[in-house]
Parts: sequence; C-alpha cells; structure tokens
Amino acid sequence: KTIYIMNGPNLNLLGKRQPDIYGHDTLDDVERMCADVAKTGGFAVKMMQSNYEGGLVDFIHEAREHAAGIILNAGAYTHTSVAVLDALNTFEGPVIELHISQVHKRESFRHHSYISMRADAVMAGFGVNGYALATQHMGTLI
Ligand code: DQA
Repeated sequence: KTIYIMNGPNLNLLGKRQPDIYGHDTLDDVERMCADVAKTGGFAVKMMQSNYEGGLVDFIHEAREHAAGIILNAGAYTHTSVAVLDALNTFEGPVIELHISQVHKRESFRHHSYISMRADAVMAGFGVNGYALATQHMGTLI
C-alpha cells in the first residue's frame, strides 16, 4: 500500500522559507523521515508538491486510483479552496490534514479550514515532525 503526502503552495521552499516558523528541514528531508516510518509499518509513501490549486485537485484524483490514504498540507489553499475540499470528498480513504505551524495561534484568516470539513484527523504545530507522526497514525487507518 502507498499513502500520498501532498503539499501545497510555497512548501517547495521548506527549509528556506520563514525557518523561524517552518524550520530548517526540506521537503526531501521530510520524505526520507516519512519513508522510514512507513517502511516500519509495511507501507510506502509518495511525496508530492504543487504551487497550483488545480495541481492539488489532480493529485487527489490520482489518489482515488492509487493511494490508500492522504496526508495533506494544502498551505494557504487550506483557508480558501472549495475545489480542494470537493476533490477530497471524492476520495474514499482516510485523510489527515496537516500544518507545520500552530495555525490557531496565528492570524485569524488561518483559523478557518475547508480541509477540516473532510479530514479524519488534524495536526498542527508539531513542526515537520508532524509528518512523521501523521504517517505513523495513517498506518492504523489503512
Ligand atoms: C501551513 C499554514 C498555512 O496557513 C500557510 O499558508 C502555509 C503552511 C503550515 O504548514 O503551517 O503555507 O499550512
């Protein structure tokens, strides 16, 4: 089995982007971390990233055929995208919403999430370690 770990806009800059908020690890580092956790659980991960809203929609459509579960950090589209929510509602497996930062401690526009209306679990404020924790939990859901 494979789970998809999807990342939205600006997360290609992880490690370089506002490191005080998002840390110094890159998306490649995160992928290695999650692959190790998944291997222990007997499944695999595929890491993906798009700066485009429609890119995330396409990833979710691909997941319908090929993924046992989705971990999604939709970045800023979390707070704006009905299209991503609609796509998630076509996916039958477990969905974990993830944020590196503790969004509820930040600006009020980050407090609302369209993704939360579909997510089976939500993780925020665990830094990039959240990806490993979410991967481990996904192993209990798939
Ligand atoms: C984020 C939080 C969002 O509000 C922000 O737009 C991001 C990253 C996080 O991982 O903490 O791009 O999803």
